[in-house]
Amino acid sequence: MNGEVVSYPGLPAASDSERLDTMHNVIARYFGNELGPAPLNGLRPSKIMELGCGTGAWSDIQMAVQAAKQFPDAQVVAVDQFPLPDRILPPNMNFQLADLKQKLEFEDDTFDIVHSRLVMMHVVDGRDALRRASKLVKPGGLLLIEDLDAISLAESGGPATRRSQYKLKEIQERRGVDVEFGRKIEAIIKSLGDFSDIQVKKVSMPFGANTSDETLNQLGLAMKKFITEFFGTFSSPLHDQGLTRELVHEFREEQEQSDNKSVMDMYFCWARRSPSIHQCH
Ligand SMILES: C[S@@+](CC[C@H](N)C(=O)[O-])C[C@H]1O[C@@H](n2cnc3c(N)ncnc32)[C@H](O)[C@@H]1O
Repeated sequence: MNGEVVSYPGLPAASDSERLDTMHNVIARYFGNELGPAPLNGLRPSKIMELGCGTGAWSDIQMAVQAAKQFPDAQVVAVDQFPLPDRILPPNMNFQLADLKQKLEFEDDTFDIVHSRLVMMHVVDGRDALRRASKLVKPGGLLLIEDLDAISLAESGGPATRRSQYKLKEIQERRGVDVEFGRKIEAIIKSLGDFSDIQVKKVSMPFGANTSDETLNQLGLAMKKFITEFFGTFSSPLHDQGLTRELVHEFREEQEQSDNKSVMDMYFCWARRSPSIHQCH
């Protein structure tokens, strides 16, 4: 299994699609039914790129669809590594197959908004994928990258949660995949040297519904459901690499305990690409 790409199709399509619908809906609700915390209201983008939009196989494309509806004058391009099942898309949206591990076929400096949610932490060499994605943004345009930090779950959870998350980190690191991607986005964008006004909103989602903020509790419960079910289905190819069936079972059991103090941090980052500097001679 070492080095082998673990792919998502093969998961039960209907229930997973339904699950990510819920995930999308609770994230949107948390941000007042906006696309996220970045200030997009009042913008008049003409081209939007949604990277790793989800396909319906285990995630949905609601984010891109919502963007297409919010910006009817914009052309929204949504890409994913897996094909989209037949479905009706808004007229200003189109889908293309693309692998973020490679340079995409789009011209640099093309999109007013480039957005990617819950994707880079799954991509081999996600840092390079983010660097390539950043070049698609027009000077003056916005880059929005949103991802989890699975190690926040390890650090806040009980013994089985800790062991399973660190094991996953170890396995994924061997493939070049960074499960802590969320906490590194800001530093990566800063290192590009081409972005200003870099903003970060960190949301610590409680898996035990134990805060006074009911919307946040709902977000945490939906994420817990997503992660524990995902682990149950996704982990079988990893059993022989140390993420054993028993460990996954213990992790899922631990997550159901009533005094669950686990949290999963999600980072929502946005930044503006510096306007191009034309030198006059
Ligand atoms: C967790 S889903 C997130 C879907 C959607 N962005 C959302 O927030 O609902 C991750 C998506 O990233 C896509 N993905 C992962 N690696 C990719 C790659 N190398 N190239 C293109 N898409 C990729 C997967 O196929 C999947 O649809």
